[in-house]
Parts: sequence; structure tokens; C-alpha cells
Amino acid sequence: MSSNNKSTNKSTQARIKHLTKVLTEHNRRYYLEDSPTIPDSDYDALFRELKTLEEHNPSLAVANSPTKRVGGEALKQFSPSQHRQRLLSLDNVFSQDELADFWQRADNRLTDSVQQWVAEPKFDGLAVNLLYENGKFIQGATRGDGEIGEDITLNLKTIDSIPLLFSKSKSTWPKSIEVRGEVVMPKKGFEVLNKKQDKLGEKRFANPRNAAAGSLRQLDSSITAKRPLEFYAYGIGECIGDFGGETHFSVMAQLSNLGFKVSEWVREISDFAGLQDYYNELLASRASLPYDIDGIVYKVNDLSQQEVLGFVSRAPRFAVAYKFPAQEVSTLLQGVDFQVGRTGALTPVARLEPVFVGGVTVSNATLHNMDEVNRKDVRIGDRVIVRRAGDVIPEVVSVILDYRRKNAKKIKLPDVCPVCGSEVIKEEGLAVARCSGGLFCGAQLKGALKHFVSRRAFRIDGLGDKWIDQLVDSGLIKTPADIFVLKKEDLLKLPRMGEKSADNLLQAIYDAREIDFARFIYALGIREVGIATASHLAEHFLNLAALQQADLEQLQAVDEVGEVVARFVLDYFSDNQQSGWLDNLSKVGIIIKKVVAKGENITSPFSGKTVVLTGDLKFLTREEAASKLENLGAKVTSSVSKKTDLLIAGEKAGSKLKKAEQLGVTVMDSQAFQGVLESLA
Ligand code: IVH
Repeated sequence: MSSNNKSTNKSTQARIKHLTKVLTEHNRRYYLEDSPTIPDSDYDALFRELKTLEEHNPSLAVANSPTKRVGGEALKQFSPSQHRQRLLSLDNVFSQDELADFWQRADNRLTDSVQQWVAEPKFDGLAVNLLYENGKFIQGATRGDGEIGEDITLNLKTIDSIPLLFSKSKSTWPKSIEVRGEVVMPKKGFEVLNKKQDKLGEKRFANPRNAAAGSLRQLDSSITAKRPLEFYAYGIGECIGDFGGETHFSVMAQLSNLGFKVSEWVREISDFAGLQDYYNELLASRASLPYDIDGIVYKVNDLSQQEVLGFVSRAPRFAVAYKFPAQEVSTLLQGVDFQVGRTGALTPVARLEPVFVGGVTVSNATLHNMDEVNRKDVRIGDRVIVRRAGDVIPEVVSVILDYRRKNAKKIKLPDVCPVCGSEVIKEEGLAVARCSGGLFCGAQLKGALKHFVSRRAFRIDGLGDKWIDQLVDSGLIKTPADIFVLKKEDLLKLPRMGEKSADNLLQAIYDAREIDFARFIYALGIREVGIATASHLAEHFLNLAALQQADLEQLQAVDEVGEVVARFVLDYFSDNQQSGWLDNLSKVGIIIKKVVAKGENITSPFSGKTVVLTGDLKFLTREEAASKLENLGAKVTSSVSKKTDLLIAGEKAGSKLKKAEQLGVTVMDSQAFQGVLESLA
């Protein structure tokens, strides 16, 4: 062996040793402490690197390598529980090509190639094994190292979706069976839990998976019982007696029959192209699923083919995980800028080393406000975890403290506004700092104008953010009223504005002159006054003069207006600068349409009734339904109480329906509601 080769070998050996050590430590944090410090995507990258090095240098691989083991060891606080059949992990693929290779290798081992797959979501939760004997839940355990897990039976018994006894007739029950699946914490429940943790001054959970894991591994089951957990079955282990038939799909159907939750996304797929179609479809729906998923699991449907394929080290050859693009990744925080919003709020924005997250490359992410910056102890030069889920604005979720450098720099709130130089004010006890420049501040003016022309306000089509920026920067617009006196020759001075666009824009501005009172109030951009509050104010005061003259008490008499909002309204109208806006608006020919109070002169089965909507109505969104009901004279509220006259319940109605039934509130189903609407049309 040449000396060069020897040294390569040495450095490879050192790298393998290092990766083994680092991955073992991250395994411990993830599986034992439920508090990982690096995102899964970083872990996956290290894992893949180690796996490749080991494949190319089999003699250097160590026996206890994390690539050969499953998960973590059991915590000593719980009794050990031996699974009857090993609970394994899955190999990951990250692209179509890798997926094709995986199935090619499977086909090569089979006499007939794979005829059919089952595709299902890869839940991002905690794997558990549930033992049932004669239909009764006997014992439940975490995955542990794949052979021995932690006995968490008592905790699992607190989860409603884990049946304590199978449903349906006894004749369909096997003598004993291990049911496998994942315990997840739904996203909504996770948010509520973290808010509670904040209130109690307790540590927040990093994500729903950690929250689920932490909740399940409690020594006190009464704590688990309070946590919003759900169990989804995805397969079985040892089974004595008949169960479900000859395919994985029929096993899943049988699990569902016996009372287990099975994802509605479990599908049989018969051709390779279908696997990719399913991927695209599920990826597009990822954000709207109630729980986190991190990919798809494809499984060979035919159980006898599964048996032929068998296992290799820690994973089956008949199933594979196709991972979605990571929603959390780590990157370098290069700097922080402060962005000034419509109400003057300063938002710290992280400038990042560009990174691929949630399917796009991101170089900016919000840090929300200075309280969050301090809570997370984020510093410039830190390695941070960035999250981008669905269309939500990317955010910095935490810092990887292990990587903090000595010269990492603390983030300071600027004393003056970075846009206009006015003083920045941060009130004691409030998270948000604001520029005190009002509409003299270019950033606040632009924000106010963008809000003014937005969809729910004046809805001036074609007057997008870029035009507003240019119109303000060129000095053509200083207040909203200026929009209505723009001339064609002014517009044509703007770069890239052509004759046709200028004509269209002027027409759109002209058409927008006539406006509902509620939209007008909303357009003013008064703090905390959304479209719903604006509607209440409009209905109550009916005209601008009355609203402008209202005092605190009168304002608080309006539906859903409390002291905070009332003060914001008062402040708005007593501010000279703002009243200047209003005077100008009345001079440029804005017409505020007369208010017809909701439900006035309308007789419908809904007039005067307090109505709540729940579940999926199918033929309408809940927002559309609410608006129709309000136009028919109903008051639509969000929760069921003794004051509720009617609950309209669509599919999958849950707690609201239960409550309505308890209180004896009349319930109308979606079909009946559709019928009534049609009869009124
Ligand atoms: S099947 C022998 N199906 O992913 C096959 N696993 O990364 C074993 N997981 O340990 C697993 N959703 O905890 C399967 N629909 C699904 C799954 C799923 C999530 C988890 C499971 C497994 C891990 C492997």
C-alpha cells in the first residue's frame, strides 16, 4: 500500500470515528432526551456520509455504528419491554432516481416483479408497538433499540385513539397481535401546548415530534393524559391467528375495522408513475394535514412478496421512505436588518447564508421581535435552525449552541429608525419596538398605502407593491388621497410603465372610488381593526362623522370592541396627521356607500339567530357560509354556548357538535343547509 493510500485510510478512519461519535450523541439527544439540537436534515446528511464511507471501506466500519442500529436504548426509568417481532427502521431515498433504484434492487430478488405498492404518509412522531391479546390492549412500548423498548402502557392508555378493546365481532380477532404505528401530536394541539408552556414559564417544545415523544415518556400518566396525542396505525408485528388477508392494504383495512385510526391517505398504487403522482399530491397537501409528516412510505402490497424480500441489517427491502424536502435546516446567520412595517413595528430580519428549505432557497428569515431574539439568544455568526413550512414566512427557530463561536455578536435594537431616522420606542412590557416617525417615515407610508389598496380595502387591481414603492420614492404620492389625483403623464414617468398599463391603472383607480363603509374603515389601517371589527364599527356608527366623534365609551359599546381597540380608534382620529389624510380623501371624490345594517329588512330562517359553523361543509368554505348567513340576518359566532340558536355541522364535525348536542342546540347538517340556501336564492 502506498503511503498516500495509508494516509487517506487514516483520515477516513478518523472521519468514520468522528461521525460515529457525533451521530451516537445526536441519537442520544433525539431518542433519550427528546430534545435534538440539530435539524433532522443535518442528521440525515451526517448519516448518509457515514453510510457511504462504510460501504466503500467495510473494514473500517465499527460494530456499534449508528448505521446498523435502530433508534436509542430504553430509558432506565421505564421497565424494558421486549417486542415479539423486531421493530425496524426504514431506508431513506431523496429522489425519483433513488426510488427507482430501490425498486429495481427489489425486483432483482423476485421471480415476478413488484405488482403493486401501498403508499402512505410517513408520520413524524414516535413509533410504538401495541400488544393485544384476545382483543384486549395488554402492553405498549416505544421502539427503543428495535428489540427492547420502554413499557409505557399506562401513558398509551390515556390516548383516545388507542382502543382498549377491539371493536366488531370477536370472530375477527386474532389470538394475539402487535399493532404498530406512530403517536403524533396534531399541529394545532402543539401550538396550544407551547402557549401553555410559555404561560407557565416552562421550556417550549421544538416541534410536534419532540412534544409527542416528551409527552409519552412521562412517569406521571396524568400529564400524558392532558397532552393532545393521537395514534395512527401503519402495520402489524407478530400475529397469532388470521388477520386481514394477503396484502398490506387489507391489513390496514382490518386495523381500521377494529377501531384504529388509519390515515385516509393510504392508497394502493399499481405503476411506477403513480408513485410520483402520489408524492406530488401529498407534498402539495402537506401544510394542510393536521399533523406533521416528513415524507412517504412505499411498501410492497403483497405480503408473500414482502416475506421473500425480507430485511437487510436495520431496514426492510420491501419498504422505503421517500423523504420530503426538509422544513428545518441549519445555516449561518450573517447579519440582521430591521424592517419597518405599516404600523412602524421594527421586525428583525435574519440575513442568512442561502439555504434550501421547504423546497425553495431562502436567504432571509424573520426573527419576529427583540423579545424572541433574546429568548432564543440568537447572535450574528451563529449556526441557526431555519424553518419554512408551506407558504408561511421562513423563521429562525433556534440556535445550535454547540457551534457558537467566541466572536458571535449580540443583536441590538437600533436607537433610530433605519428608514427615516426617527426615534425608536419600545414600551416596557411590549415585545414590539416602533419607529415614531408616523407617515413621515417612508416605510410606514408605503406599508399604509399597500394596505389601503389591498384586496379587502380599496382593492385597486394593478397597484401592486412595486408600483407603490416607485410612486412614493418618486414623490408622486404622499398620502392615500394622492392616488386618486394621479395623472397619466405622471404614471408614464415611472420606469416600465406603458400606455396600456397606465390606462388600466387609472381605470382601476376610478372604479375603486365607491366603497363600502366597512372597507373604508378597514383601509385606514387603524391598529387591531381587521375587516370584522371594521364591519362592526360600520354597522354601529353608519357614517364617518359619527365614528370620528365617538368617545371611548361609545366605541366600547360596539360588538367585539374592547378597551384596547377603542383606544386605537380614538388615537387614530385624534392624530392630526391621520385626520389630514381623511380631509384630503373627502376632497378627491371618494364615495362611501350607505350602510344597510346586516339583516335589516330581511326575513329568513336565519334572521336574528346566533349561528355557529363547524366541520367541512363541502359545497362552501366556512368563510363563504358565514358571509351568506350574515347577509341573511344571522349573527355568526365561533363557539357553541347556551346563546347559540343553531349549529350547522359539516363532515368531521367534532367537539362543537358534541357540545351542541349536550346543550340541546338545534343542529342542521350541510345538506339541509344547502337546501335552505337554495330555497332562498
Ligand atoms: S413502516 C418495517 N410506515 O418511520 C417497516 N413506518 O424511519 C417499518 N414511520 O420506524 C416501518 N410513518 O417509526 C412505517 N407509514 C409508516 C410510517 C413509518 C412513520 C416511522 C416509523 C419507522 C420510521 C423509520
